[in-house]
Amino acid sequence: MKKFLLTLAVALIPSVALAAGGAKMPLEHIELDRTNEASLQRGMATFVNNCLGCHSAQYQRYERSATDLNIPANLVEEHLIFGDKKIGEQMTIAMKSSDSATFFGNPPPDLTLETRLRGPDWVYTYLKSFYKDESRPWGVNNALFKDVGMPNVLEHLQGTVTNRCSDEELVQRGLKSDIDPLTGVSLPGCLTVDNGTGSLEPAEFDKVIYDLVNYMAYMAEPSKADSHRIGTNVLIFLFFFFFIAFALKKEYWKDIH
Ligand code: HEC
Repeated sequence: MKKFLLTLAVALIPSVALAAGGAKMPLEHIELDRTNEASLQRGMATFVNNCLGCHSAQYQRYERSATDLNIPANLVEEHLIFGDKKIGEQMTIAMKSSDSATFFGNPPPDLTLETRLRGPDWVYTYLKSFYKDESRPWGVNNALFKDVGMPNVLEHLQGTVTNRCSDEELVQRGLKSDIDPLTGVSLPGCLTVDNGTGSLEPAEFDKVIYDLVNYMAYMAEPSKADSHRIGTNVLIFLFFFFFIAFALKKEYWKDIH
């Protein structure tokens, strides 16, 4: 028993150490939908147009996305591949990471597996957490990733965001808007978009980010849908095979009993 308790205590050390990392802003939750092809296609367009300038996605090929998401190859070649790349190539970029480290402080990491590294909820919340901060080199900061080196590349869609809260308040409330306890009316949250500065309404912007993260999650596990389909078929097979195996067993043992 003593040994067991000791092992348990040792096993718990890392989680205690992690928990001591300080309170973090609560994440917004999204339900991914691998079957929503339209969403994934829009997400791919947003990704290629806005992210692939700095981030690579080197473990994904254009062709794989095109096939999996049912986008005709010629459309991908025409609209989603820039420069002289071919559809069979990986989604790499020309910027060297040593150069980008000089430009941004930190190099933009490869994003193929990002949603597996941080989780889709984290990426979704991160992309919605940029706000205006003149003290930073790009004039923006991020509520979830403090002093981030990435500019707010989707600001033209979202608009300029003002942060009205302290760090502690952000940790308590996250991105949720406040509900007035007396009237039940919803008040603006910590991060509010300055009216008329973006080309999209907040709900439309959320949808763009949702589609983008949905695509990034597909990219991180392109075979997930196949695995689920094959897994289901294997279980159905095993279910029926059980009866066959059982009948066979009865047949084999019938003379012995
Ligand atoms: C102008 C260049 C640039 C563009 C365009 C850009 N990013 Fe970034 N991004 C960066 C840099 C630089 C970092 C590293 C920031 C740091 O570590 O401080 C980063 C970091 C990130 C991170 C956090 C990575 C991590 O886990 O530490 C995510 C997620 C991300 N970017 C997603 C995106 C998405 C999605 C897009 C497209 C909408 C995008 N980025 C477009 C420069 C860019």
